[in-house]
Amino acid sequence: QELKLSLEQIEKGGYEHFMLKEIFEQPKSIHDTMRGRLLVEEGIIKMAGIWDHVERFKNANRIIIIACGTSWHAGLIGEYLIEEYARIPVEVEYASEFRYRNPIITDKDVVIAISQSGETADTMAALKLAKEKGAFIYGICNVVDSSIARITDAGSYTHAGPEIGVASTKAFTAQLTILTLIAFKLGKHNGNLGNADFMSLISELDAIPKKIEEVLNTTHELVQNIAKDFINATNFLYLGRGYNYPAALEGALKLKEISYIHAEGYPAAEMKHGPIALIDENMPIVIIAPKKGHYDKIVSNVQEIKARKGKVIAVVNKGDQQVSAMADYVIEIPETSECFSPIVASVPLQLLAYYIAVYRGANVDQPRNLAKSVTVE
Ligand code: AGP
Repeated sequence: QELKLSLEQIEKGGYEHFMLKEIFEQPKSIHDTMRGRLLVEEGIIKMAGIWDHVERFKNANRIIIIACGTSWHAGLIGEYLIEEYARIPVEVEYASEFRYRNPIITDKDVVIAISQSGETADTMAALKLAKEKGAFIYGICNVVDSSIARITDAGSYTHAGPEIGVASTKAFTAQLTILTLIAFKLGKHNGNLGNADFMSLISELDAIPKKIEEVLNTTHELVQNIAKDFINATNFLYLGRGYNYPAALEGALKLKEISYIHAEGYPAAEMKHGPIALIDENMPIVIIAPKKGHYDKIVSNVQEIKARKGKVIAVVNKGDQQVSAMADYVIEIPETSECFSPIVASVPLQLLAYYIAVYRGANVDQPRNLAKSVTVE
């Protein structure tokens, strides 16, 4: 019998959708993004784009990160990383807001644009504005030789490989990898990150691809089953604290863009300032609760949710007890330092969004009304 495979099927490499393939590529894409840059044995991070301009970064008044959508979520995590490890003030802005609000920019500012496609119109326009005002502009792009990569003074490519699914997955975790490398490199250089901590953090970073592989293996089937229970949900809340607050925003964005279920991400502590009014037995709440990351506070948030009968899907570390005892569904991920937890926690959330969308019969790779690269305003 003749074997007929379309080009697209071949490109999907046996996966039903590009998105699933790209989720599963993450151990490799993160590894590729670190390759040649993270030299654990020598104890160095090599990034020419940063090193050639390290004094600009070191003497910057502040770093402004501009981006849209998922890339903006990566930027928020970048703020936590750079402020924690390099102690340089960081602001994160939606490119679309930044470009129209007459922002104060000086030649002492460093502006980092994050963009998978490197073609997003708002990000491009915001960068041009920053450049006009004399800021040093840096790009974190996935597409080589894209417009943003070309206009910037320097940059680092995420080597995630082509991302076809409209919902960004592997580009996001590659962006987080680059931001982590930048934060550690700057922190080491300006003396805010001591050698012992630097060494232990880089060897932990080096092991992240293995941990992602483990998460894919251990959670894939489980998340698929959890997804079946939520195909008729109309709303979702995603909660996290610290580094995992932006991971909650990203989890919610993934769900809404491909499944068309309304979802909101919130910092867990903000729940009591409004969203708690929404909680009843029909409200699914995804809560990211790793051990290192305000765990006790999250425990009380989960108690508040359960007192109102919300359905809790908890992402916790292996062996977790307190949150797991209260949650309706438990997804275990390996323990990491807090700064790496959004990379690891994002993977089961991508799978959850993916399977809910698939079971609802949605066009996962090309959701309605969305384009892979938004080149118009
Ligand atoms: C991600 O899942 C979205 N499709 C979207 O938010 C995207 O991240 C945004 O349009 C920014 O794109 P860029 O990274 O190519 O600039």
